[in-house]
Amino acid sequence: MTLILGIETSCDETAAAVVADGRIVHSNVVASQVEIHRRYGGIFPEVASRQHVLSIVPVIEEAMAEANVEWDDLAAVAVTFGPGLAGSLLVGVNVAKGIAWARGLPLVGVNHIEAHIYGNWLVEGAPPPFPAVCLVVSGGHTELFLMTDHGRYQRLGGTLDDAAGEAFDKVGRLLGLPYPGGPAIQEAARAGTPTAFKLPRAWLPGTYDFSFSGLKTAVLRMVQKHQAQTDRQPEGESESHVQQTLPGIAAQPLANLAASFQAAVVDVLVEKTCQAAEALGAQSILLAGGVAANQWLRMEMSRRSPVPVRYPPPQLCTDNAAIVAAAGFYRLGIENPTNWALDVVPNLRLAENGS
Ligand code: KG4
Ligand code: ZN
Repeated sequence: MTLILGIETSCDETAAAVVADGRIVHSNVVASQVEIHRRYGGIFPEVASRQHVLSIVPVIEEAMAEANVEWDDLAAVAVTFGPGLAGSLLVGVNVAKGIAWARGLPLVGVNHIEAHIYGNWLVEGAPPPFPAVCLVVSGGHTELFLMTDHGRYQRLGGTLDDAAGEAFDKVGRLLGLPYPGGPAIQEAARAGTPTAFKLPRAWLPGTYDFSFSGLKTAVLRMVQKHQAQTDRQPEGESESHVQQTLPGIAAQPLANLAASFQAAVVDVLVEKTCQAAEALGAQSILLAGGVAANQWLRMEMSRRSPVPVRYPPPQLCTDNAAIVAAAGFYRLGIENPTNWALDVVPNLRLAENGS
């Protein structure tokens, strides 16, 4: 059994995990900073790195204790070195170097995008068959890859403007919902009708690229229109039976807007991913990243896909270190990893040159 300690500090979660053979999670500890950043309505980078400094050692200690392993049981330390916030990444990379050096262990630098994809190896059952089309949708990324083997990717396309999660977060703010917008929109959408508002979809034919900025602007227009209508309603005649929410939109139009926005994002993501799977003869579709936790996306992709669809459980979609340990295990099998000069790469890409 190969036990790997994974460390993740690329954004606003301080996380450590112990994973066996790249597939079995022995512990997975995440200290979320979401409450701290909520008051800014987004991530405040300097606050994030300082919070990582405070949390990282207790989080690692907890992951080791929960997995009931000793330092000598570990085969390697895997750590995210990009993409992400430089100051945040530095905390994880330095701690990982310290542990690996002190214990004489291999140090594996992991690409955060690849880590998200490997969340699909932490699901019980047979591993996903290759070739697989991977849709990585998170707060920072919306990219489509063809994965032909472990560590081998071809980038098919990606967003030309906002990432899908970023669009969820921005629209959440427009609707007066709490940060992060993704889970809040999913919740608000439950009471809404996905076809209530006609919202645009950027199909960008002939490409596997995405664009969400037009959709965001369309939602803004709808919000402004509804605010104006609410403002004009005389006192006492407003829909008193529905709860008023922050931007001055009544609860039902807000739910309908949330549901229509979610449906528009999911429609494009599903259509393009399924087209890619069909055209490239994929054996499976893998969803990855925070937005892969979205139930509407999971349901629609499974309903419309020509091949089996896999996705990790929600807690392995959002940032965590078990996915870093899993990706680290397969990296360890591909290359001789330890590079003491490992630096953080905030804008690291995956498969930029088709490798
Ligand atoms: O992967 P992740 O935790 O961090 C990054 O690497 O970016 O993704 C966070 C993103 C946020 O934008 C959040 O709003 C979105 O994932 N998200 C969701 C859901 N849960 C998280 N978006 C839609 N539906 C969800 N249920
Ligand atoms: Zn992430």
